[in-house]
Order: sequence, then structure tokens, then C-alpha cells
Amino acid sequence: MKFFVDTAEINDIAELAETGLLDGVTTNPSLIAKSGRNFKEVIAEICKIVEGPVSAEVAATDYEGMLAEGRELARIAENVTIKVPLTWDGLKACRTFSAEGRMVNVTLCFSANQALLAAKAGATFISPFIGRLDDIHLDGMELIQEIRTIYDNYPDFGTEILAASIRSPNHVKQSALAGADVITAPPAVIKSLVKHPLTDKGLEAFVADWKKTGQSIL
Ligand code: E4P
Repeated sequence: MKFFVDTAEINDIAELAETGLLDGVTTNPSLIAKSGRNFKEVIAEICKIVEGPVSAEVAATDYEGMLAEGRELARIAENVTIKVPLTWDGLKACRTFSAEGRMVNVTLCFSANQALLAAKAGATFISPFIGRLDDIHLDGMELIQEIRTIYDNYPDFGTEILAASIRSPNHVKQSALAGADVITAPPAVIKSLVKHPLTDKGLEAFVADWKKTGQSIL
């Protein structure tokens, strides 16, 4: 399973990349706006830090506009993944980009049928938004399970399930259990995955007991 971080904050990305456990990055227009920085500059910086896919989302909503913007974004670096919305124009753009050999992330997926269309359009990644479904009292995780079943029924689909809008460690665990290929989560959620009070307590005891031995390994 791959781990992407969902942020445009360079320091967080660099910190997580240092662990060697980060496989990619996703951004969206809201995250770019929050960073207060120039879009193309941020993407270029991220692509220098992370070798894996870096999703950069088009702002246009029409096919021609998406093509122009996507091609411009793809020029920034080889690992740029063009992110398009799940609309007919987005799917058409996905088909075109995919035929050109570019990576595409189809975003804002809220149903299994949408995911089916994205796979047919040759998406590299489909991004079902778990948290936003949970927000309106639907079951985000059920959607991941449905898409997993559909994609497994058609092994010719090369699309990876990128569980997005992840808000908690439990979302990460449930996505892994449901067979998502990738999760993208905010830095704080990824950092929290290592935490367990019994790990802290156990380590404290081991350190104290080791001191009592008066030994040194080196
Ligand atoms: C994914 O690509 C999106 O950027 C992201 O996961 C959206 O998360 P949110 O619903 O918490 O804004």
C-alpha cells in the first residue's frame, strides 16, 4: 500500500519524505490557496523532494481548458500527476492525457459508477473522498469496498484506488482492510499512525532497565 501526503506545505512534505515511507503527494486548489504560494512554484518544489506521483489539479472545468492547463502542469516535472474532476469533461481529458502516457488522478469521486467511468477513461488513480461522505452520514468506507470489488472483477482496469479525504487513523486502517492501493492523508494523520501509549510506556521501561545494566553496545 502506498502512502501519499495531502498537503502543499513543503516542510511537512520534507519531514515525511525523510522517513523513506512517503510514496507521493496530493494537492488541491484549497490546499494551494491555504499555502498562500504560487501554484507552479510549489509543485516544482514538491517534485524535487518526492520522486513519486505529485498530483496537481487543473482549475478549468471545460475539456479544452483542462488540456491546456494539464499540459502546462505536466511540463513542471516528470512525476506530476494531472488531477481532473469527475465530470464528462474531466473524463474526456483523462482519456486524452492517459493516451499521451501521462499520469492522471480523477478526483471528487463519490460513487462506484463514477469510479467505473474513471477506470474506463484510463485513470492512473481514482480518488474516492471518504471523509466528505462520512460528513453527510453516508459510509465512505463502503464506497472503497465497492470500488475494490468492481476493479477486481475487471483485472484489465489499471486504475489504483487512492482513498482520499482521510481524516483519522481509523480511516487509514479501514482503507487498508478494504484493499485501497493508496491512501492520501494530512501530515498530522500520517504522523499519528506511529503512536501507541503502550509503545511509549514499554520503551521507557526498556531504557530505564538498560541503564541499570551499566553496559554499552558500542
Ligand atoms: C485528495 O486528493 C483531496 O485533496 C483531499 O483528500 C480532500 O480532503 P478533505 O475532504 O479533507 O478536504
